[in-house]
Amino acid sequence: MKTANIHPIFDRLLSRADKENFLNQKAKVIWMTGLSGSGKSTVAQGLERLLFNEGYLTQVLDGDNTRIGINNNLGFSLEDRKENIRRISEVSKLFVGAGMICINSFVSPTKEIRGKAKSIIGEDDFLEVYINAPLEVCEARDVKGLYKKARNGEIKGFTGIDSPFEAPENPFLEIKTDVLSLEESVQLVYKKIAPFIGAK
Ligand code: ADX
Repeated sequence: MKTANIHPIFDRLLSRADKENFLNQKAKVIWMTGLSGSGKSTVAQGLERLLFNEGYLTQVLDGDNTRIGINNNLGFSLEDRKENIRRISEVSKLFVGAGMICINSFVSPTKEIRGKAKSIIGEDDFLEVYINAPLEVCEARDVKGLYKKARNGEIKGFTGIDSPFEAPENPFLEIKTDVLSLEESVQLVYKKIAPFIGAK
């Protein structure tokens, strides 16, 4: 039987740079933080679609695809949120190592939690985007009906009601979704991140 002739040069792990070159992009984590209902996931999805159309390979991570799977044993105590974000950050780091652009949308409510994410992912790869809409606006939208439940006491420890949200002081970018349209929000994020992900 013929065996493959493997040259020693191939006998090593492929690097992140090899994969970034292959994909013709720079890997980054675009980290969206904000209240529930602020529009994080909607902006994340719009951004992913735009980036895909422009030829970038991305992965959206949000509560929907992580809390039912890898984090299905976690709730919303501050301890569980820390663990939620720690695991997400480690997963993001693996994606970044594979040359991918991660678009993460998590409440990630405290400076400590986001600081941890940044230190796991690495400062250079962590682009923090504050998706900012006032609590009254998020509550009026109440897309999932959770604010109503929180006000009625059916949900305890809801962010912005009886659990803290600490706004980022110095984010890479802030998007006010009560002022901008979805299209404008997505365009703003895209323009700001383009130089960091290898403009095509
Ligand atoms: S985080 O705080 O750990 O970052 P994550 O982003 O994963 O939170 O999940 C937030 C989503 O879970 C909210 O958008 C909302 O739909 C839902 N949720 C359920 N309970 C809570 C709660 N107590 N506080 C905030 N969000 C909650």
